[in-house]
Amino acid sequence: MNFQKICVLGLGYIGLPTASTFATHGIQVIGVDVNRRVIETLNNGGIHIHEPGLRTIVEAALKSGNLTVVAQPEEADAFLIAVPTPFYGDKTGEFEGETYKLADMRAVTSAAEAIVPYLRKGNLVVLESTSPPRTTVDLVKPILERSGLKAGSDFHLAYSPERVLPGQILRELIENARVIGGVTPESAQAGAELYATFVKGKIIQTDATTAEMVKLMENTTRDVNIAIANEFARLAERFGVDVWEAISLANLHPRINILSPGPGVGGHCISVDPWFFVETAPDVTQLIYTARKVNDEQPHYVMLLLQKALGSLKDKKIALLGLAYKPDVDDLRESPAAEVAHLLVDAGADVRAFEPFKVDGLPGIPMAATLEEALKGADAILLLVRHTQFCELSASEVDALTSARVVVDTVNAWDQATWQQAGFSLFRLGVGKSPVSA
Ligand SMILES: NC(=O)c1ccc[n+]([C@@H]2O[C@H](COP(=O)([O-])OP(=O)(O)OC[C@H]3O[C@@H](n4cnc5c(N)ncnc54)[C@H](O)[C@@H]3O)[C@@H](O)[C@H]2O)c1
Repeated sequence: MNFQKICVLGLGYIGLPTASTFATHGIQVIGVDVNRRVIETLNNGGIHIHEPGLRTIVEAALKSGNLTVVAQPEEADAFLIAVPTPFYGDKTGEFEGETYKLADMRAVTSAAEAIVPYLRKGNLVVLESTSPPRTTVDLVKPILERSGLKAGSDFHLAYSPERVLPGQILRELIENARVIGGVTPESAQAGAELYATFVKGKIIQTDATTAEMVKLMENTTRDVNIAIANEFARLAERFGVDVWEAISLANLHPRINILSPGPGVGGHCISVDPWFFVETAPDVTQLIYTARKVNDEQPHYVMLLLQKALGSLKDKKIALLGLAYKPDVDDLRESPAAEVAHLLVDAGADVRAFEPFKVDGLPGIPMAATLEEALKGADAILLLVRHTQFCELSASEVDALTSARVVVDTVNAWDQATWQQAGFSLFRLGVGKSPVSA
């Protein structure tokens, strides 16, 4: 197929880099977003997303005239949907007395509806948003067929999961292998031809539902593997073992790769996507469901650890280090560290949180503007995120900034002996030996 003009719906972390990359590879791109602020920012030469290298490529794409940013789709050779697919905050499903979270597919629905008036014979539509299995066939296809055209014969329809890593999006978009699942083999072929514009990694064709499952299986595997690491941490505490030592020894085995335990699982992918399986097949997803529960409970487990170290938490001054969902990012979405902060506030603790990548933090969490401010006058220090900056802190540096003697490390960043020598009692998640009192 010959693609001269495409329309990308959703200009977020995925849609904007994708639209700009197509535009800088000679394709005319109409970027569409429902958020007026996004359109204004981009048209005024600004950028609303923090991603290395993105500003430069967006500027180049706009300057070349190949990228236009507007509120409504237009006729085009292909349409790409890259809109959000979170879960509902307030709606849940139920199976045999257990509740599960439900995918909020309203943005996908409205993006597909917005394409209908502009859909023409021979077009290609690709859904990129992470979606429950069968979304392309059961949700998107019937909406697009309201145009009077038939998917697979009049127009091509495909699903292509996005698997880029934030921080590396522009490189991975080009270099990663890409899976394209069509509602027919011809649709997959059309999708493969479109992405061949810039993808240097392997392009693999399959059917749409397989492609949807591939993405969900990747993130679900990670979630389940983190859940087992979290259970190993609980077991190690029960049996007086250091789980970090035990994991490093187990991982010497050539076929074992146990992940790290921690305060829970967050972000907008790994803690969300497994629910898409549970929602669509609750009767056969017991393991996936349980893993989600284990990881969601982990912030409560951190609270127990803190109570063990401090006794009652009421009015205790806690210096909480890190709110992001993973190290060295500013993303607080679904962050277990933020959940711990909220639980501490609810328990009556006097929290001072410090997040170097987002000093404003989140509503409801008292923030410190600096590390010094968080540590000053604290009764205890709680480390929740393995930011490089925190890992590099030495016990003597911290000693000079605080009167706190109790330290709780949930991410294995600090060495027990060193901190003990500096006069701290260091409690570590997954370590069943109480620290020798300083
Ligand atoms: N961010 C990632 O690292 C990542 C990685 C893999 C997959 N994904 C998936 O990609 C999809 C998009 O994620 P994101 O991070 O880019 O989201 P995002 O929130 O950064 O951006 C989505 C954009 O879509 C816009 N939008 C919402 N409804 C729209 C509509 N009907 N028409 C046009 N625009 C609309 C929003 O205003 C927003 O600007 C999600 O399904 C996500 O799970 C994201």
